[in-house]
Amino acid sequence: MAPRENFGSRFAVIMAMAGSAVGLGNIWRFPYMVGEHGGAAFVILYMLSSFILVLPIFFAETIIGRRSRQGTFGAMEKLAPGTPWKWLGLFTVVSPIIILSYYSVVGGWSVEYLFKAACLDFTNAEPSEIQGFFGQFISSTGGPIAVHTIFMLLVAGIVLAGVKKGIEGFTKVTMPILFILIIALAVYSMTLPGASEGITYLLKPDFSEVDAHAVAAAMGQAFFSLSLGVGTILTYASYMRKEENILASGVGTAVSDLLFAVIAGFAVMPAVFAAGIEPGAGAGLVFDTLPFIFNKMGMGAPWLSAIIAIIFFVTILVAALTSAISMMEVGVAYLTEEKGMRRGSAVLAITVFAWCVGVLCSLSFGPLADVKLLGNSIFDFLDKLCSNWLLPAGGLLFTLFVGWKMSRADVFDEFTNGGTLKANVALFNVVWFLLRFVAPVGIVVVFLTNLFL
Ligand code: PFF
Repeated sequence: MAPRENFGSRFAVIMAMAGSAVGLGNIWRFPYMVGEHGGAAFVILYMLSSFILVLPIFFAETIIGRRSRQGTFGAMEKLAPGTPWKWLGLFTVVSPIIILSYYSVVGGWSVEYLFKAACLDFTNAEPSEIQGFFGQFISSTGGPIAVHTIFMLLVAGIVLAGVKKGIEGFTKVTMPILFILIIALAVYSMTLPGASEGITYLLKPDFSEVDAHAVAAAMGQAFFSLSLGVGTILTYASYMRKEENILASGVGTAVSDLLFAVIAGFAVMPAVFAAGIEPGAGAGLVFDTLPFIFNKMGMGAPWLSAIIAIIFFVTILVAALTSAISMMEVGVAYLTEEKGMRRGSAVLAITVFAWCVGVLCSLSFGPLADVKLLGNSIFDFLDKLCSNWLLPAGGLLFTLFVGWKMSRADVFDEFTNGGTLKANVALFNVVWFLLRFVAPVGIVVVFLTNLFL
């Protein structure tokens, strides 16, 4: 077998992990979750979940991945051979592929918006026209499937190019650009007339809107946004060099992801209020809002708003791609390392499967809108199933594995690089306590309240 590839530098590791974390979850999902679950109170719950419940899972996954230097399935076989833990490995191969299928549908929407922007279709359109377009487009049949296909092919192409050339080369360049752009957009959005209501909405918590569903949704959003509980970070960590710092990578990724989501919130929410859009409008929120901001930014010159829009949709697309490739890589690592498949065949198998499921998700906004699974459309069902249940469940099992199955000495060794990293040694007991008690108990409590309340 070819030797395992490694990420080339610390910057590359952080960028690849941040690339997986920062994506449509921040730009598309976070603002509409905030809108559906009551604004600032949700933001606070999301931040608490990110640091108390979800960051420990990041450490758990990186410890497992780097120690075993295997994908999820192989990692369990290596660290706990012949035990039922291998099922956790298998479980976490399946969930990112499910996410990939519906994620690609939304990725396709951004491809469509890029085309539209390039054709000047949004210039000078009223907010109601822009909203009308979104509803019409996603409920049609051929268009959304075509752009979903384009998105899937882009993902497959990058993953096919391999870890170093494909994933590392791509994320290192694009992530910093994206960060700068979203800050610029937020600054502009906050100066729009009528924006102050949106700013207040993000800053002034109203806990009366918070219920068990909102708490579960906040935890789900934190898992989704940090790509945890599905073995993605585990798989990336298996390509990390021994001298990398797990604590620094974790905190670096979590902070950049959180900042990104919050800044995206400040880019979207003020404009939502300025355009008179309902914050609880759901999955279309960001697509309804961005063209409105770009029109304003163009100051009446259609070519200017089109250029701004194109730059933005390209970067959103890139953010979506860097996340989607991480979902596919988990399955590819499994099929190549455990099943002996060639990289090309593994990519093909996953692409075909995820594409088919994605088609069903796409159709669930139109011809299949009446098909309901536990009261949800196919798309919403898979999204809720993954974010609110599968990801936290995977995360719970990863932390139980590290906290209760691995030996304390091994975990210490991996977390502190053999005792050489002073800050990690000093913080080890806190992390160990979070891993063993706080994260698992917290996740179970959220599960139970969501189930019974
Ligand atoms: N974290 C990604 C985002 O915020 O868009 C979504 C994601 C990527 C979820 C990878 C799960 C995953 F395995």
